[in-house]
Amino acid sequence: MAKAGDLDAFKSVQAEGPAVDASKKMRVGIIGTGWIAEAHIKSYMKMPDVEIVAGADLIPGKAKAFFERFGVEGVKTDYKDHKEMLADKSLKLDAVSVCTYNRTHAVCTIDSLNAGIHVLLEKPMCVTLDEAVEIMKAEKKSGKVLSIGFQPRLDDNMQMIRKIVQSGELGKVYYIQTGGGRRRGIPFPYGTTFLEDKTAGLGALADIGCYSLDCVLNALDYPKPLTVTGYKSAYFGKDPNYSGYVKAGHPEYAKVFGVDDFAAGFIRLEGDIILDFRIAWAMNLDTSGDSIIMGTKGSLRIPSTECWNGTFDKPLKIYHEVAGNQVETVIPLIPTNPNGPSLFDKKIRTFLDACKNGTPAPVPSSQIIYNQAILDGIARSSDLGHEIEINIPEI
Ligand SMILES: NC(=O)c1ccc[n+]([C@@H]2O[C@H](COP(=O)([O-])OP(=O)(O)OC[C@H]3O[C@@H](n4cnc5c(N)ncnc54)[C@H](O)[C@@H]3O)[C@@H](O)[C@H]2O)c1
Repeated sequence: MAKAGDLDAFKSVQAEGPAVDASKKMRVGIIGTGWIAEAHIKSYMKMPDVEIVAGADLIPGKAKAFFERFGVEGVKTDYKDHKEMLADKSLKLDAVSVCTYNRTHAVCTIDSLNAGIHVLLEKPMCVTLDEAVEIMKAEKKSGKVLSIGFQPRLDDNMQMIRKIVQSGELGKVYYIQTGGGRRRGIPFPYGTTFLEDKTAGLGALADIGCYSLDCVLNALDYPKPLTVTGYKSAYFGKDPNYSGYVKAGHPEYAKVFGVDDFAAGFIRLEGDIILDFRIAWAMNLDTSGDSIIMGTKGSLRIPSTECWNGTFDKPLKIYHEVAGNQVETVIPLIPTNPNGPSLFDKKIRTFLDACKNGTPAPVPSSQIIYNQAILDGIARSSDLGHEIEINIPEI
């Protein structure tokens, strides 16, 4: 249900791809109407082939207020949870966005797929590897599209990383370093759902770590993870004097903090590749370093950045040898078109196109299960205090 101004904004989405057939509307619902649901609805409102018909949230009245805030009328919201919404057959839902906190990603996605509905699931895929396996089983049984919300993949500069690796310019890749983080950036935009174990399940590791992993693993066609040595800690999040809490006037958040604010892992990947990873919501350091992909013919340096925002602000650099000379090739940054579609617009559009055309999910679970296996492996290895093997059952 789009307003005139939003349709104008949609022109730019169309400008980058084929025209959208708006003769049949996709009936879309939103599960979880918190912070990130705002980005979803803004993009859905720009799509001429979408009718937003329903929304559900566990907090009474939250979904209704959410749609009112965006001026979207006629949306059914009188459900106590996602299950009640999915049971309402009068909605004839084609697709849902699962925008809940991590702990309910699996149940909301599985129930939606079992109801025969396409799913755009927010990142991280879920909390545990077991949940990811159950999600994929439901996906396979349903035959519906499941795409995971990694919008940085749609950024031109991020795509350049994959293009360079796939071109063979680096030769055989054998070592990757990735990660990053913030000096002070534990997130609590609307309360403590990122901080509590019962809602988030994992902290920085999954929240921003999943993006760092995707940035490099997607470039390499997602080699399978074999073993993990993991570490996680929570020195900042559990400290009532953490400056972020103090500035916000919420020292009590330290008491409910139940996840990690720093994590690291050393991962052995199929194809004799080592992945060295670290991620922080808070650290006493400006950056934990650039990402690097080392190969037999060349190595790529990806400037340390807020990769979860989908881009970086310094050029990529390839280090190689030309006619016996050590040479550095600078790959110029591709400027972002300020009038073009946002990464979220692209994420929603590519998902809708896959649903309508029966084409593969833009970000498939068959790749992201490896991302989830690494997150889960780091958490389990850290708890156990030793290296673990990763075993993913046939689905
Ligand atoms: N792609 C991105 O750039 C991006 C950015 C921020 C957050 N996220 C992801 O989005 C997810 C949500 O984050 P958020 O900040 O919006 O959280 P939030 O806490 O603001 O909102 C989540 C909402 O889901 C509701 N909910 C939970 N289980 C439910 C259920 N079974 N049925 C109906 N409603 C349910 C909660 O009541 C809450 O209102 C997280 O997994 C996060 O990692 C993605």
